[in-house]
Amino acid sequence: MSSYVLAISGASALQLGERTLQTLLNNNKNISLILSKGAYKVFLSERRLNIPIDPIRQESFWRERLNSTKGKLICYKWDDMAAIISSGSHKTKGMLIVPCSMGTVGRVASGFSLDLIERCADVHLKEGRPLIIVPREMPWNLIHLRNLTSLAEAGAKIAPPIPAWYTNPCTLDDMIDFLVMKILDTLGENNVDNKRWEGSIK
Ligand SMILES: Cc1cc2nc3c(=O)[nH]c(=O)nc-3n(C[C@H](O)[C@H](O)[C@H](O)COP(=O)(O)O)c2cc1C
Repeated sequence: MSSYVLAISGASALQLGERTLQTLLNNNKNISLILSKGAYKVFLSERRLNIPIDPIRQESFWRERLNSTKGKLICYKWDDMAAIISSGSHKTKGMLIVPCSMGTVGRVASGFSLDLIERCADVHLKEGRPLIIVPREMPWNLIHLRNLTSLAEAGAKIAPPIPAWYTNPCTLDDMIDFLVMKILDTLGENNVDNKRWEGSIK
């Protein structure tokens, strides 16, 4: 059965990647998960989480942390360039990079596939499959903007994690839930309706 590739790169807002993974698994999706080398460092410094690098141990880690037994999860190491998902002949339904660092944005935009995330993104673009980029940096410089434009021109969907204010979010979780709903909307894969706009109050 075809799967989604979910990549988490070394940018802030890792909670978005975690919640995206949890939601897709709870929606019974098959997920191929890749954390970039940089993501492990950011998980440690921002989330105080020491994520196991070994794929089997990492799968158990996520299952326990996300309290999810649904769907299928396979974890890959960032340098596993021979992984099944590195080839266009392996069918997937699409790929998401949540969050996406400016380093990964730049390397994918220039076709510079140094790790498995960049290779998979390159494959999704060349095969014309959905590629959702959730870029995390603020502010964006001209190089970031040009790279994001190149990616959009090549067929990627750019979905910056800009929260909605009309939902009156009270907690960080409120914001995360809304953003993940919007991210998954781009794939047509969200079963959760989280405070959608229903027209202005008359
Ligand atoms: C705590 C922490 C937070 C970071 N946040 C961001 C960020 O929000 N956006 C970004 O582009 N880079 C960020 N970086 C820098 C990237 O992690 C760094 O450029 C890394 O090489 C990116 O590698 P990757 O794209 O392979 O994950 C952060 C680094 C650290 C240590």
